[in-house]
Amino acid sequence: MVPLACRRQSQRMRLSASVLTAMASSFAVCRLHMRGRVVLVRSLQKADTFLQRSIGTDVAAAQAEAPPRDGSDEKDGCKSLHALQVERQEQAERSVLINCQSRTNEKKFLKYLSNHGDIKKYFFYESYGLYAVVEFAKRENVASLLEGAVIPSVSHESTVPFKSRLLSLRNLSLVDLSNQQSGLQCQPQTTIPINEFIQRLSKEESIDQQITSLTEAYQLTEENSRLRFLVCSLLKDIAAAYFPECTIKPFGSSVNGFGKLGCDLDMFLDLDGISGRNVKMPKSGLSLEYQMKRANSERAVTQSILSVIGECVDQFGPGCVGVQKILNARCPLVRFAHQPSGFQCDLTANNRVAMKSTELLYLYGQLDPRVRSLVFTVRCWARAHGVTSSIPGAWISNFSLTVMVLFFLQKRSIPIIPTLDHLRDLAGPADKSVIEGNDCTFVSDFSKIQLKSNTETLEQLLCEFFEFYATFPFSRMSLNIRKGKEQNKPEVAPLHIQNPFETSLNVSKNVNATQLDRFVALCQESSWLLQQRETNTPRGGANMTTAWGLATLLLPSQVAGIKSRKKRRREPASERIKGLLESLKNKNQPKTG
Ligand code: GTP
Ligand code: MG
Repeated sequence: MVPLACRRQSQRMRLSASVLTAMASSFAVCRLHMRGRVVLVRSLQKADTFLQRSIGTDVAAAQAEAPPRDGSDEKDGCKSLHALQVERQEQAERSVLINCQSRTNEKKFLKYLSNHGDIKKYFFYESYGLYAVVEFAKRENVASLLEGAVIPSVSHESTVPFKSRLLSLRNLSLVDLSNQQSGLQCQPQTTIPINEFIQRLSKEESIDQQITSLTEAYQLTEENSRLRFLVCSLLKDIAAAYFPECTIKPFGSSVNGFGKLGCDLDMFLDLDGISGRNVKMPKSGLSLEYQMKRANSERAVTQSILSVIGECVDQFGPGCVGVQKILNARCPLVRFAHQPSGFQCDLTANNRVAMKSTELLYLYGQLDPRVRSLVFTVRCWARAHGVTSSIPGAWISNFSLTVMVLFFLQKRSIPIIPTLDHLRDLAGPADKSVIEGNDCTFVSDFSKIQLKSNTETLEQLLCEFFEFYATFPFSRMSLNIRKGKEQNKPEVAPLHIQNPFETSLNVSKNVNATQLDRFVALCQESSWLLQQRETNTPRGGANMTTAWGLATLLLPSQVAGIKSRKKRRREPASERIKGLLESLKNKNQPKTG
C-alpha cells in the first residue's frame, strides 16, 4: 500500500508539465504591474505554450507567490470539490463580464476599472466579440462599478431594465479610437480540431507523452473554469429575485476534472439552504413558520420553479438565447445558450444525486493522475469516432464512458482505484449522505485513502482498456463500480452499467445494440492497432508527421461501419483481422504523407 501523498509525489516528477500548470493556475494577483507582466508573459509563452494557457494576469507579481515544488501545495491539490466550489463561487461573485470593443486599450481599461477598487485577476477572450472577465478584490468594488454603469439609451427599441454583471464598455473618446491594434492577449476558450492535433501528437516520443499532451491541450483551462462559475453566478442573480438564498452550482464535466474545452455547462439550482430540509423544529415554546404553497410532489415543485426561472432567463437574462424548458424529462431542465461565454447551458434543480456523482468522479480523478489522463483520452477517442455525441440519442454518454474507465481501473490485478463500497467504509459521520432513500455516503478526506502500488504506464493501460472491453461479456454482465465487479444483468439491455447511487437504475439504458457493437468493434480495432509495431513505435521525432500511436487511434476507423450483431457473428475472425490490416495500410498511405 502506498500513501496517497507519496504516490502523488512520485507521479509529480513524471508529470512536470502538469506541475507547471498547477503552479500557474494558483497564481493570485493583487496589484497591476503592467510592464513586467507583458515581458514575462512573452518569455513564458516561448518556454511553454501550455503554461501560457493557464496564465491570466500579472505574472510578475504572481511569480513571487508561486507555490514551491516540494509538495507543500499538496493540500491544495487534494482540495475537496466542495471547498473548490466555495472558493470559485466567491471569486465569481467578485467578478464582472465586460463586452469590450476590439480596439480596447488594455492599460486604459484597467486604469478606468481600478477606480472602483483593486483588480485581483483579469483576462480577455473572444466569443462573438471581445470579452473581459475581471475579478475585483472586494464585492463592494463590483457594487461601486455597477453604481456608475448606465442603462443604454436605445432610440428605436426598448430594453428590459434588468441590471446584471454583464456589461458593455463604451468608448466615447475619439482620441482612443485612433489607437492602433490593442495587441490584447486572448485566452482560448475552444480547442483546435482533432485532425489538426493529430499531427502535433505524432511528434511526441512516446504514447504516454501523447496521452499527457492530449489531456493538457483539451482540458478546461483555469480561465474557462472561472468563466463557468461566473455564468452560474450571473444566473444566480436572476434566480435570487425569487430565492435570495439560493446558489447555482456547476456540476458534471465542468467541475469533475474530465471536462473538455467546449463541453456543456450543467448547473444545479440549490435551494437546500431554504428548503427546511436540514432545519430542526423547536420542541417547546412559541415559534413562527412560513406559510407556503403546497404541491403534489417534489417533482411538481421542481417543475414549477424551473418553469418560472426559465421564463425569467428567457425574458430578462442578458445574453441568454434559445431558452427551452424541458420539464417533462426524467430530470426536468431549462436549456439555453449563453452567448457571451459560448456555453450551452442546462439548468436543473433538485438534482443532488448528480452532484454526488460529480463529487465521486472528481475524487477518483484526484486520486491518481492516470485516472484523469485515461478518462480524457478515452473520451476524446470516443468523440473522434462518433461513439459519443453532444446530441442525445442511443449513444454511450460521456458519463457512462467514464464509469467504464473507472470500472476497468478497479479491475486491474493491482487495482488503481478503490471500489465505491470501500470509499463508503472509510467515510466519517460528517460524510453521511442519504438522498431520496439512496445511500450516497463516501469519504471526503482524501488522506484516509490508501492506494495500492500499481505502476502500469498510460500506454499499457490504454491498450489494456481496449482489450478489456473488446472481450467483455456485455450480453450477460453488468458493470458495478460500487463492488468493482461485474454482476449478472438484472434486466435486458444491451449495455448495463449500474448507477453508483441509485443502484436499481442503469446509467446506459439509452444505448442500443448497434451503438454497443460499434464501441466493441472500435475497441477491437484500437487494441489491435496498439499491438502493431507499425503503430506503437515513434516515427522519427519532431519533424515527422506520420501518424503513430494515439494519433493512429484518432484517425477515422475503417472497421466501425455500423454492422448488425448477426452479420458480425457470421464473419470469421480471420476476415476481421484481414480487414484491420487493410485499414492500417490505407490509413498510413494517403493521409500521412
Ligand atoms: P459532457 O457534458 O458530455 O462533457 O459530460 P458530463 O459528465 O457533464 O455529462 P452530462 O452533461 O451528460 O451529465 C452531467 C452529470 O450528470 C454527469 O457528470 C453525472 O454526474 C450526471 N449524470 C448524467 N447522466 C447520468 C445518469 O444516467 N445517471 C446519473 N446518476 N447521473 C447522470
Ligand atoms: Mg455535461
